[in-house]
Amino acid sequence: MNDISIEGSEPFSKYRSAQLFVGSDISDEACTEIRDILFQGRGFDLDGYKDRCIKRRIAARIRNLGYRRIEGYIALLENSDVEQEQLLEALTIHVSQFFRNPTTFSVLEEQILPELLLKYRDKREVRVWSIGCAGGEEPYSIALLFDELCRPNDLISIIGTDVSADILEKARSGVFETHRLVEVPDPVLAKYFSQEGMRYRLNEQICRKVRFLRHDILQDRPFLRIDLILCRNMLIYFSRQEQERILRALANSLAPEGLLVLGRAETMVNESRELFTCVDPVERIYRKRDENAPLSGS
Ligand SMILES: C[S@@+](CC[C@H](N)C(=O)[O-])C[C@H]1O[C@@H](n2cnc3c(N)ncnc32)[C@H](O)[C@@H]1O
Repeated sequence: MNDISIEGSEPFSKYRSAQLFVGSDISDEACTEIRDILFQGRGFDLDGYKDRCIKRRIAARIRNLGYRRIEGYIALLENSDVEQEQLLEALTIHVSQFFRNPTTFSVLEEQILPELLLKYRDKREVRVWSIGCAGGEEPYSIALLFDELCRPNDLISIIGTDVSADILEKARSGVFETHRLVEVPDPVLAKYFSQEGMRYRLNEQICRKVRFLRHDILQDRPFLRIDLILCRNMLIYFSRQEQERILRALANSLAPEGLLVLGRAETMVNESRELFTCVDPVERIYRKRDENAPLSGS
């Protein structure tokens, strides 16, 4: 298949002076065509994602390449494995940081993780799942907290999953740009990271505590008997209907009384509210409801 080529398209400078190509310039039909190409070429299903969000990102990709018309871009996409990969990357934004929203991590450090350690100490491992983990910043932050809180015999299992194989490869490397580390306290930086030029390498012993697996939350079977799920800043990309379906699946993934952390801009939707009780409304922390408890107890 061809590599990316924008031969025959208008140069960006010329295009810029014309009206800017935006998401609303992409018809539903064109969007369906793009969705079919990505599904057939990459097995990635755009169906559950919010239309407006998807169209905005496709438009940004088209602008970056300098295309003026969607037809030209669709022809490129059909014929280029590389462009299919690039578009997938543009659609799945991997913004993350160690200890992103530090107050959430304070509650995890002071309340949630000690509770889990106490509950399962000498019984079984504590199981954590970070969904849409991007470059690993989130599950590694949990591993760092546990490293300070654990006793020598405590058993912890942390998995980080993401739909993007490329970003997981980065996560496994354990090397991070400085801007991913701005919330890391200085003593933690000094103890667990070593500087390599403009980047920082996370201590290998912490890296080994997180297992990274490719997993599409819309298509793959969920993991089970999890004590703590972090599903932050990913639900926002999905339609409400899809969010509800995912939240229902996450309730099934959790062990009894298991905990779920959403992003600060995310919340329970529709009937998923009945599956959880709220532990911390500001930090968006929820506990799986005991199926036998009356609903009025929320
Ligand atoms: C904005 S990042 C959030 C990273 C991290 N959870 C945080 O809050 O800092 C969203 C991540 O969700 C991933 N993602 C998008 N769609 C997904 C899907 N269907 N299944 C699993 N991960 C997905 C993206 O690849 C991206 O890495």
